[in-house]
Amino acid sequence: MASLEIDGVSKRYGDNLILDGVSVDVPDGAFLTLVGPSGCGKSTLLRILAGLELQDAGSLRIGGHEVSHLRPSRRDIAMVFQSYALYPHMTVAQNIAIPLILRRLPLWQRLPLMARLLPQARSTLARIDAEVQAAMEMLGLTSLAERRPVQLSGGQRQRVALGRALVRQPAVFLLDEPLSNLDAKLRVHMRSEIAQLHGRLGTTFVYVTHDQIEAMTMSTHVAVMMEGRLLQVATPSEIYADPADLRVAEFIGSPKINVLPARVGADGTLTGVGLPVSGSVAAAPGTAVQLGLRPEHLILRRGGGRGTVSAIEDTGPERFVSLVLDASDAPVVARVAPDHCAGLRVGDDVSLAVLPGKALVFDHAGARLGFDHPAMTPGEFDHVR
Ligand SMILES: Nc1ncnc2c1ncn2[C@@H]1O[C@H](COP(=O)(O)OP(=O)(O)O)[C@@H](O)[C@H]1O
Ligand SMILES: [Mg+2]
Repeated sequence: MASLEIDGVSKRYGDNLILDGVSVDVPDGAFLTLVGPSGCGKSTLLRILAGLELQDAGSLRIGGHEVSHLRPSRRDIAMVFQSYALYPHMTVAQNIAIPLILRRLPLWQRLPLMARLLPQARSTLARIDAEVQAAMEMLGLTSLAERRPVQLSGGQRQRVALGRALVRQPAVFLLDEPLSNLDAKLRVHMRSEIAQLHGRLGTTFVYVTHDQIEAMTMSTHVAVMMEGRLLQVATPSEIYADPADLRVAEFIGSPKINVLPARVGADGTLTGVGLPVSGSVAAAPGTAVQLGLRPEHLILRRGGGRGTVSAIEDTGPERFVSLVLDASDAPVVARVAPDHCAGLRVGDDVSLAVLPGKALVFDHAGARLGFDHPAMTPGEFDHVR
């Protein structure tokens, strides 16, 4: 069990700056997910944490101790990779036991005959066996103990890889896209298995993924990374509702947040959007800004001549209604319950409103701006709809 402090870590490969002063602290027992597009430096940061790569600058502390100068084996961490890296000729139980055998038995005692003859090796092996059994039980692998990897499903193989990390009882688990080789259904299942495992162990996890749903559903802390920098570290709900940067708002959430160009009016309100958004922006009048509106925060009204329905996508529980606004070229998607748009058709004339308190405003570079706008009052929601 240990806290994790990453302080100003930078890394170059040749001329390319891959990590640019990455800093993040997480408390003991956190589940930190590093999420960002492919190539943004997630695996590089994880490999630096593991000691498989050396950073050019910055420091790493695990449980308050500086570990930058320590070999991987001395850092008290265990890493699980996307490729399971199981030994094909070994059983499930043997694959899980291997890190313990390597750590606790001298080379010559690992020979099968030696292990049987030497009492000391026998008792070490018995202890290892008990720990392997416990890990297999925790991961639901007991009935598969004698199978070889080829006889396992993808999800079962990934559980064996987790088991091999588990028996080492590390202070920190590092997981690099462990689910990306699994099919969609299994991924959803393993997602909750890993989150539950974290809950039972209470150990610090650092989990890397490019999948925002994994980040949002599994983590206590989400770090959104782009081009070698951390844009924001916060709880999943803060990341979603209170993004510090437009790139964070655009990366998290599906369908994507709508972004409309707007201008700050004389009294601080927004103009040029084509829908009413009351409130005042913390920027000088005339400033060009970007208005971010989540699809579920838009309310559609029939008529009013503000825009036209261009497509309707029905997923069953909800509909994604695409709109072309008269005042803006930016495409807009609203997420609507089927009951609220039953008769709506492509080509229909509509107008839009924003749920009070939900509009997000960013400057031209994407930094979040303060926007003081009234929150919803009881009854207003029904009235608008
Ligand atoms: N050993 C290496 N040598 C040179 N470039 C590398 C090396 N490892 C990674 N990179 C580059 O660093 C960038 C970040 O890679 P990586 O950390 O694997 O990204 P991610 O895991 O977010 O997809 C990529 O542009 C990749 O090509
Ligand atoms: Mg990677």
